[in-house]
Amino acid sequence: MDNSWVLLLAAVSALAFISKTIFKQKPQKNLPPGPNPWPIIGNLNLIAFDPRRSVQSLCQKYGDIMLLKFGKFPVVIASSSEMARQFLKVHDAVFASRPALAAGKFTGYDYKNTGWAPYGPHWIQARKIYHMEVFSDKKMESFVHIRDEERRGLVSRLCSLSGKTIMLKDHLSKYTLSIMCRMLISKKYFVESEHENSTLKDLESMVGELLDLNGAFNIGDWIPWLSFLDLQGYVRKMKALQKKLDKFHDYVIDDHEARRAAEKDFISKDLVDVLMQMAEDPNLEVKITRDHIKGLVQDLFNGGIDSTSNAIEWAIRETLGHPHVAEKAKAELDKVIGRKRWVEEKDLSQLPYIDAIVMESLRLHPLATFLTYHYSIEDAKVAGYDIPKGTTVLINVWSITRDPKTWDSPNDFLPERFLGKEVDVLLGSNFALLPFGSGRRRCPGLSFGLKVLRITLANLLHGFDLKLGEGVRVEDVSLEDMGTAVTRPKVPLAVVVEPTLPHDLY
Ligand code: HEM
Repeated sequence: MDNSWVLLLAAVSALAFISKTIFKQKPQKNLPPGPNPWPIIGNLNLIAFDPRRSVQSLCQKYGDIMLLKFGKFPVVIASSSEMARQFLKVHDAVFASRPALAAGKFTGYDYKNTGWAPYGPHWIQARKIYHMEVFSDKKMESFVHIRDEERRGLVSRLCSLSGKTIMLKDHLSKYTLSIMCRMLISKKYFVESEHENSTLKDLESMVGELLDLNGAFNIGDWIPWLSFLDLQGYVRKMKALQKKLDKFHDYVIDDHEARRAAEKDFISKDLVDVLMQMAEDPNLEVKITRDHIKGLVQDLFNGGIDSTSNAIEWAIRETLGHPHVAEKAKAELDKVIGRKRWVEEKDLSQLPYIDAIVMESLRLHPLATFLTYHYSIEDAKVAGYDIPKGTTVLINVWSITRDPKTWDSPNDFLPERFLGKEVDVLLGSNFALLPFGSGRRRCPGLSFGLKVLRITLANLLHGFDLKLGEGVRVEDVSLEDMGTAVTRPKVPLAVVVEPTLPHDLY
């Protein structure tokens, strides 16, 4: 028999086998559905101008999990409570990182803050520090006098303005700013230093701008070769803002350093003292530098001031727009607290209707349309779909908390839906309600923010008749937000406050 055939067949088979092994075709990935991307821009043409509205209409077409391309980068949008549960609970460890965007580089001390830090040793250490030094039950208890004093300051300032038309938001922002300053850096520098350093009194507006820039959709993040043009001017604004914030941080740190040097048996009094002490520890897993101190402190200002005052304002707006809700809340307060004293934190557990207003307001007005970007550090299979490593994930809170499949009359303000439900439990386990996120990246300031929100709302309703400014009717109270990433009210709200408790209480 002629062996040449056999030899040839063997050689071809071997070649086929080798090439199959070497150039093994990648198995087809089962990616989530989504619109076809264009070269270079991906799907940016569909969403860049009005992200919230465009995403809502796209997800009606493609479903609860949708794949878009921002430039060449894959971005998954999760728009149902089940999909949120998949990313924030089932696969939380894979999706707990953040993409490296310009905001983290230029306003987050090159990712040395917490909010933009990738998942890893620095972020884990930062969250531990927050937990132990700011938000533990013991620490929260030790700050109760600050919250009480600042709240009394707020109500007496409002009382002194009774009968006049005021912008409530201005007073609320100053109030949350004062609490945060005293808690984190011991002093209200921005007040004491007014004449010395004009940048300090701007802290409040700097923090507002920081929140907006952190939520801005920067084209250069997604088409990196265009980033040098900074088409929208965001990077320029970020750099300018960071310069101003840096001046503030330097002032505070230098002041703390001087006090430390002057005091003989120095005891740490606030977070900056603690971080400065930690910076001297050679055994820390991630060395704390001056930039880390700034990043960690800045994130608490960034997270704590505007988000909390915005949430209080939304709750007040909703009660003003729904007078029967305000009446019901006042009746509860009269019954539980009486008219001879203010509400204290220990009373909160007995005020279910106040809690219900807070939850319903947070449902309709989450801090942002989407949770802060999540980002995958490994390949994952989610709800049967392949999600590659390096995918950005947007949890579409706006749609989830208004989903008619989960919520009856989703666009109506109905606090009663939360009566009889445990707020703290709800916030940990209900993926249809995500005002603070969930899982590893969940807001570390949740219990603090919620406490301030509940007690402030309760006292404003208890101690004042809040009336609309002249010429504004109940039906005119705007409950619309600006439609941007951060859900700020579209129209500023002017109110007139009239004290209702005995005068010596203010
Ligand atoms: C009503 C008030 C507040 C709301 C609605 C809120 C909401 C949120 C949300 C939605 C996130 C993103 C979660 C995610 O990425 O999945 C977040 C993160 C964060 N929040 Fe809050 N927050 C509030 C108050 C606070 C307060 C009082 C602080 C600090 C004093 C704070 C500090 C932070 C920080 C540092 C992060 C970043 C966490 C990380 O990336 O690991 N927040 N917050």
